[in-house]
Amino acid sequence: LVLILDFGSQYTHLITRRIRSLSIFSLCISGTSSLDTIAALNPRVVILSGGPHSVHSSEAPSFPDEFLSWASSKGVYVLGICYGLHLLVQKLGGDVRVGDKQEYGKMEILVEGNSGIFGNKKVGDRQVVWMSHGDEAAVLPDGFEVVAKSEQGVVASIEDPKRRLFGLQYHPEVTHSTEGMETLRYFLFDICGVTAGWSMENVLDQELKVIKETVGPEDHVICALSGGVDSTVAATLVHRAIGDRLHCIFVDNGLLRYKERERVMETFTKDMHLPVTCVDATEQFLSKLKGVVDPEMKRKIIGKEFICVFDDFAHKLEQELGKKPAYLVQGTLYPDVIESCPPPGTGRTHSHTIKSHHNVGGLPKDMKLKLIEPLKLLFKDEVRQLGRILNVPEPFVKRHPFPGPGLAVRILGDVTEGNALDTLRQVDEIFIQSIKDAGLYDLIWQAFAVFLPVRSVGVQGDQRTHSHVVAIRAVTSQDGMTADWYYFEHKFLDEVSRKICNSVRGVNRVVQDITSKPPSTIEWE
Ligand code: XMP
Repeated sequence: LVLILDFGSQYTHLITRRIRSLSIFSLCISGTSSLDTIAALNPRVVILSGGPHSVHSSEAPSFPDEFLSWASSKGVYVLGICYGLHLLVQKLGGDVRVGDKQEYGKMEILVEGNSGIFGNKKVGDRQVVWMSHGDEAAVLPDGFEVVAKSEQGVVASIEDPKRRLFGLQYHPEVTHSTEGMETLRYFLFDICGVTAGWSMENVLDQELKVIKETVGPEDHVICALSGGVDSTVAATLVHRAIGDRLHCIFVDNGLLRYKERERVMETFTKDMHLPVTCVDATEQFLSKLKGVVDPEMKRKIIGKEFICVFDDFAHKLEQELGKKPAYLVQGTLYPDVIESCPPPGTGRTHSHTIKSHHNVGGLPKDMKLKLIEPLKLLFKDEVRQLGRILNVPEPFVKRHPFPGPGLAVRILGDVTEGNALDTLRQVDEIFIQSIKDAGLYDLIWQAFAVFLPVRSVGVQGDQRTHSHVVAIRAVTSQDGMTADWYYFEHKFLDEVSRKICNSVRGVNRVVQDITSKPPSTIEWE
């Protein structure tokens, strides 16, 4: 295991992903975790991430005091990146100062020593790297050597190989550091002697084993399928482990996309042979949403209704089986469980709060179900790989995320008013189909249409109209936490806008959302 201690850098998760791409298992935990937590994971290598703090700040996060002596006694290799390098230097008696020359962005470094981390000079003497620091190592602790300096003469790489301690001032995990991956490869394989062998096939075997060992031979398990890739892959995995003792529910809350219930159910039952009960709860949801315009209220109502439907399903199942289901499967992913060191000034606490509203709405209180979360160590792209190994049909594997509250957060205002739902479904379908036809679907994280409670004047045929405005939005993203709006060609936008206005009654204007996240969110509500 390569363990990353997170000190709040925006690149920390990228380090984990890069290392996993070398087929090495890597996990990320908060940089201030206790030594017991670190030791229990039994890492061979610990990487100290970068971070936005200065080691001199009163809020500067740090590893536990005994960490370095523990690492030394266990033969654990330590690599500090940027702030991680500063921590190493400071804790071992060196000196870190605010540099005369702050370095941000692409820079050249010159490799001076003959270090294993640069493959004993097999990686070029001059490299372009990505720097982002104000502080620098001014005096090194005893035993350390400088192996590379920036073009401005600032220390860029240090090491004390005898004590298995290494530091890089720049970010090797960022693609702008042209030799960064090579450097990580030399470090992990040649210096630390890590062996590659982690793969999605291993993850699958391991998870199947864990599920079989956890779920008793008489136990039953339930799962709410949303139609998204995460819950689908999680259910498929559990189904493979315990067969039809898994019972899935798919809820049509009346807020799904065009023909979604039919399409999804056909794939679940015909192609994947998953045991799924489809519940049409359209009336139940829409009657509760009537007249509601506040986005948070909508979410709360939907979450609550979902629990009622789910509760009902579980109780019916209990009567059928003559016993309570024991477990609930959830498609929780790694980014939702990682404890990060929050960057200062963000108001975020240690536990990841941003996505709390994304859970389906909590569990029915009296059910006392134990959780099975077979994807909780995986990133989204890894879940997709796992889905492919499990023969989950490709269109499912590649599906864009869709929020739990569905179209309710894409209709601004009362979702039950007029034809809003139907109109939005048609507009969304045209937009998504056009994206698929243009071969752009896989380049985009998420694309959708939004129904605005605004009318504008238009002229269609010889008639003046006073009809609705719809917005289209497409974004690229790694994990949904930040996003950039997608640049379509004008010709594509022109065609989509014509198609929408020509074929969807009640719409006479199409606008495009060109805001990134932040400052906007991906969804409009
Ligand atoms: P925002 O709008 O917060 O969305 O930028 C980030 C990502 O999360 C999805 N999202 C949700 N997913 N339940 C979900 O399962 C929700 O309530 C929810 N709200 C937003 C959103 O589609 C995007 O992918």
